[in-house]
Amino acid sequence: MADTTGTATPEAAVEHGEDGVRRRDFINIAAIGAAGVGGASVLLPLISQMAPSEDVLAESSTEVDISAIEPGQAIKAIFRKQPLFVRRLTEKEIAEAGAVNAGSLRDPQTLEERTKEGHRDILVTMGVCTHLGCVPLGAAEGEVKGEFGGYFCPCHGSHYDTAGRIRKGPAPTNLEVPEYVFTSDTVIQAG
Ligand code: FES
Repeated sequence: MADTTGTATPEAAVEHGEDGVRRRDFINIAAIGAAGVGGASVLLPLISQMAPSEDVLAESSTEVDISAIEPGQAIKAIFRKQPLFVRRLTEKEIAEAGAVNAGSLRDPQTLEERTKEGHRDILVTMGVCTHLGCVPLGAAEGEVKGEFGGYFCPCHGSHYDTAGRIRKGPAPTNLEVPEYVFTSDTVIQAG
């Protein structure tokens, strides 16, 4: 007698049910994985050819005249083809950064560790969000600075404080402070 209950036979379950789907998924995943490996092996030599040599990177540096930056203002420069933010903090912004218990932060660092002695008001960071690399807002006049008064990345909502430290959102670490020196009271050299 025909089965009128609508229940699949054991054979049908194997062919169309969970097991069958899993088997097909596995085959698809295996195929994508193999393509991914092949793609990567083709791309890697290309990328290594395009990357500048260590020597070139070491030689490239950027000088920035900071004399015209007023407290509360920032400027954008380019350092090794990426945005560089240089900001002169107000007394209030310095106090806000200092009032935070650095140990409680996702990437624990004090303002002192992120600035140079004698120049606590000058914050030099890369303008590159540490989540997926967007350029955060907050350096140009009128741009939103996020909930902590520093920088805000609109791509996925990362908020950085007045010391450029990650305070909220998906970014894993603080905005990077590149290597730099003060070559005079009014000029910094990154790199
Ligand atoms: S790239 Fe900035 S939050 Fe995702």
